[in-house]
Amino acid sequence: MSKPLQHITAPGRIGQIPLRNRMIMTPMGSNTAAEGGFCSEQTVSYYEARARGGAAMLIMGSVSVAWPRGSSNYRHIALSDDKYIPGLQQLVEAVHAHDCRVAAQLHHGGLMAFNEAAVGHPTLCPSAPQGHSADEMTPFMTAEELGIISAPMQEPTFNLHYKEADDDDIRWVIDVFVAAAERAKRIGFDGVEIHAGHGYLIANFLNPSVNRRQDRYGGCIENRSRLLVEIITEIKARVGAEYPVWFRLDSVHFTDDGITNEDAQVTARLAVAAGADAVHCSADGDHAKGTCYSDGHATHTPGRFVPFAAAIKAQVAVPVICPGRIEPEVGDRLIGDGQVDFITMGRKLLADPDLPNKILENRPQDIRPCIYCYTCISNIFVNNHIRCAVNAMTGFESERDLIGSDRARKILVIGGGPAGMEAARVAALRGHRVTLVEKASRLGGTVYFSGVSYPPNGRLVAYLQHQVRQLPITVALGVEVTPDYVARQAPDAVVVAVGAAREMPEVEGIDLPHVFSGDDMRSMITGDDAEQVKGRLSSFNRMMLGLGSASRITRNIPLMRSLSKLWMPIGKRVVMIGGGLVAVELAEFLAERGRQVTLLDEGTVFGKETPLVRRWRNLADIRKLGVRCLPNARVIRIRQGLLTYVNALDQERTIAADCVIVTSGTVANTSLAERLRQQGYEVHMAGDCSQVGYIEGAMHGGFKVGAAL
Ligand SMILES: Cc1cc2nc3c(=O)[nH]c(=O)nc-3n(C[C@H](O)[C@H](O)[C@H](O)COP(=O)(O)O)c2cc1C
Ligand code: SF4
Repeated sequence: MSKPLQHITAPGRIGQIPLRNRMIMTPMGSNTAAEGGFCSEQTVSYYEARARGGAAMLIMGSVSVAWPRGSSNYRHIALSDDKYIPGLQQLVEAVHAHDCRVAAQLHHGGLMAFNEAAVGHPTLCPSAPQGHSADEMTPFMTAEELGIISAPMQEPTFNLHYKEADDDDIRWVIDVFVAAAERAKRIGFDGVEIHAGHGYLIANFLNPSVNRRQDRYGGCIENRSRLLVEIITEIKARVGAEYPVWFRLDSVHFTDDGITNEDAQVTARLAVAAGADAVHCSADGDHAKGTCYSDGHATHTPGRFVPFAAAIKAQVAVPVICPGRIEPEVGDRLIGDGQVDFITMGRKLLADPDLPNKILENRPQDIRPCIYCYTCISNIFVNNHIRCAVNAMTGFESERDLIGSDRARKILVIGGGPAGMEAARVAALRGHRVTLVEKASRLGGTVYFSGVSYPPNGRLVAYLQHQVRQLPITVALGVEVTPDYVARQAPDAVVVAVGAAREMPEVEGIDLPHVFSGDDMRSMITGDDAEQVKGRLSSFNRMMLGLGSASRITRNIPLMRSLSKLWMPIGKRVVMIGGGLVAVELAEFLAERGRQVTLLDEGTVFGKETPLVRRWRNLADIRKLGVRCLPNARVIRIRQGLLTYVNALDQERTIAADCVIVTSGTVANTSLAERLRQQGYEVHMAGDCSQVGYIEGAMHGGFKVGAAL
């Protein structure tokens, strides 16, 4: 990028709030409240980091207006009583200290207020839900996840029943929203956002498939919008017309019978007429499906809400705010074109809170990219606090830090995957003298390879490579580490980050030439150690692979992705042994390239190491591509073109397999670390070699080791 982006960095205004640029942090529930709904030190430091990072305003993740009534999350932050004021005041002061603005998102969970039923309260709604939809979520969850998510249902007090809001309830709802807004103003929040999306109470009223009322709050969109309009009108009347109030709504539902964009345009017009100072657009998916979140508000499709937000902008004269995987340069163009006024960023600011400052300083290559893995949101589902796979600080700001070391030490990092690069980066930032050694001819490890099947992983590798290049880190590529090598380096400490070991199952036929391990696949796709697979390929495939390596095509991931659509040395019918994270990602890649893919797993849950929300997405995507997932399948024999397994009923089944890929058997790999320890070195381990933990394990492990040296 030659010049800093001019539109996204330009100042703006929402109501009376002057904003230093157009980058706003989208509301994200953090599950960081202390017992009883109080804002904690963890909450304050998490937000303060994002304020310091240059965002113009932070919209706090939803805060509960009637806590514990109407709350949905495990550690939901409350704004329902004056006792919550001091904690939230600390947060506001911490954010303001960085010249950043902060708003509170006011929330009642309605049909999603899961904490209500757990304590036997009725669930408040416009009208009671009718019928049951098919369960498309639990079959894809592990027993542990199911246990956590269903725990409230095991409470003796649990009682799921509904209360259709009568006039008194509606009065109460308006009152609690107004009281919370008034409290927010007293605390010093710069404004409030009314949460009117995502299946919560106000969205339940707006949604024709949920709201079946016959009174003035049901039926036409004007009636369904009435609750939101009355809340805005009464807040403005109580706290003063000048106090900024806006709302977040679903600009569309990706369902057949939910809110349409035309509905949302009407709601937006009415709410703005009632005094709203801005419209924050979002979207929602089908709540019966696990893909609800990645279809809806945490979209997997970049820029998915933009056309809907732009249509709303054409209807209102106040600023329109748009979220949803919007890259800064795309946001810049959208603002420049007048399609939207502000961009909200969520996951990008979990991955890198300093993103706005890096945009302002024109350093886009230093932005740590989000890899859209859904670790953050999946953790909220299983009652953990917010965290990020690629940023070990997120959610841990109050307990982890990067303090310079008081004595510079000589550190040898062995292994140039994400764990090694992150450990090297952090150690170098802290002032250590770091040498990073990698046996392959490039940095990135197995994640470089996964970048071919899933490009966001490639962007993470590129970011880490850039950081390593910028810092005073000596990099040695193509070096197989021996005891002599380590002795010559004479390090004060060694970090072993050599990745996992892979064990092949003991199955008849496992040595046949059409059976490939994960390492073989990596060699074929990246060209690293290609000699070990060449002998098992046809002469044409060998020639193509040789050409790929010689022409360095295998170093260009986007080109590799395109060319692999035309040619890959992999037969038509692919069977994978093991149905974990790697298998599911690879299955999608191969199925998109015309392969008929079957996954066999001895368990029942596929992709179980994948964060839940991403797993729902991946499994739905591969199902659409025709990938077969066979659970409870134990492979007993492989022959040329055939594979035999035993199913849950102990029956033998044989399927066609032109190519067999073993993705199971990934285990920790401690041998090098143990050897070096025996030789008297101070040894630390990071990443899969100490415990298989994929990208999150690598990034967090690397960070922790680098920070502890
Ligand atoms: C961890 C997490 C928590 C979220 N919590 C909320 C919330 O409390 N209120 C809300 O309106 N949206 C919530 N969302 C949705 C985000 O505001 C936003 O729509 C979504 O992350 C898409 O924007 P992005 O692509 O910039 O991340 C949450 C998203 C994530 C990832
Ligand atoms: S956990 Fe994954 S999806 Fe969430 S912010 Fe971090 S990288 Fe992005």
